[in-house]
Amino acid sequence: MAEQVIINEVGPRDGLQNQAKILSVAERLELIAALQKAQLEHIELGAFVSPKAVPAMANSDEIVRALAAGQKKYSVLIPNRKGYDLAVEAGAESLAMVAYASEGMAQKNVRMSREQANEATIDIANQAKADNKNIIATIAVAFQCPFDGPSDPSIVAETTQRFLDAGVNLVVIADTIGAADPAQVKTVMQHLVNDNDAAHLACHFHDTRALGVANVFAALEAGVRRFDASIAGLGGCPFAPGATGNVATEDVVMMLEQMGFDTGVDLDALMLASDLAETLTGSAPGGRSKAWLKPYLQKQASVA
Ligand code: COA
Ligand code: ZN
Repeated sequence: MAEQVIINEVGPRDGLQNQAKILSVAERLELIAALQKAQLEHIELGAFVSPKAVPAMANSDEIVRALAAGQKKYSVLIPNRKGYDLAVEAGAESLAMVAYASEGMAQKNVRMSREQANEATIDIANQAKADNKNIIATIAVAFQCPFDGPSDPSIVAETTQRFLDAGVNLVVIADTIGAADPAQVKTVMQHLVNDNDAAHLACHFHDTRALGVANVFAALEAGVRRFDASIAGLGGCPFAPGATGNVATEDVVMMLEQMGFDTGVDLDALMLASDLAETLTGSAPGGRSKAWLKPYLQKQASVA
């Protein structure tokens, strides 16, 4: 049997948070429905952040109320305790907190020090345990920070350990600005996989320097079996200058399936979701494999 790799679709959150065009709740739900049809089981539905800071994520509660009840595979991003309370009230079962490998990014994103943000994550993890919720901690700028330069791998390792010891269910190592290279990714992730259970680790890459898929491969070689990706390569952090879209779901799924891994994703339906993402937002920075995949899938269908 083919080995499984989990794709966590972050298009509805990381993908949409920085687009010029703000989608309505109905449009966001339409996109999520298309992703569900493609059998993407793990989806980040939205964010409970200040609507002034990130207008595109306003009204995420309506999306959570519609979809998240009893669903640990659907997560939402929260920046603080207020976000936790609002998300849980709406019915979210998995909450994703962001922590930081650098001081500069912690200040810019949540106006906290790195240590304050770590402590906030641990406080929320404790609350989540008491409430029987899932808690995910993303370590942003784990490889490089746009303000402080290269990140220290020992800080990433210590923070990962601390979160897992505190009962965090999953630690996501994120290249928020897409500056990592495959050699660096392999070294950092091998270290983390040696010291921790790989089932509790994931990677999150942006494709700024066209190394997103190469970085997925490097992490895969290190033993990581769970990746964030965004439909059509949408994405970018409003608070990280120079960050472009996430590695595209289409590209990651195509590579993994071609290599013999099982993602469970329906590629035909994924093409439709990708077209929809493009139509709704008016942009599709990534998903380069689509130009090849679409005619290939059509040909397969006509032979069958
Ligand atoms: N959801 C909704 N509103 C929130 C909120 C949340 N989770 N947290 C804070 N707010 C509101 C407060 O109510 C307050 O509103 P007001 O100005 O109408 O009174 C305002 O945000 C400022 O609150 P404050 O407690 O002073 O927070 P802050 O200024 O120290 O931090 C953040 C504000 C971090 C919450 C805000 O900048 C934010 O949500 N950032 C988004 C981070 C993000 O999504 N980054 C991208 C993902 S990597
Ligand atoms: Zn991101």
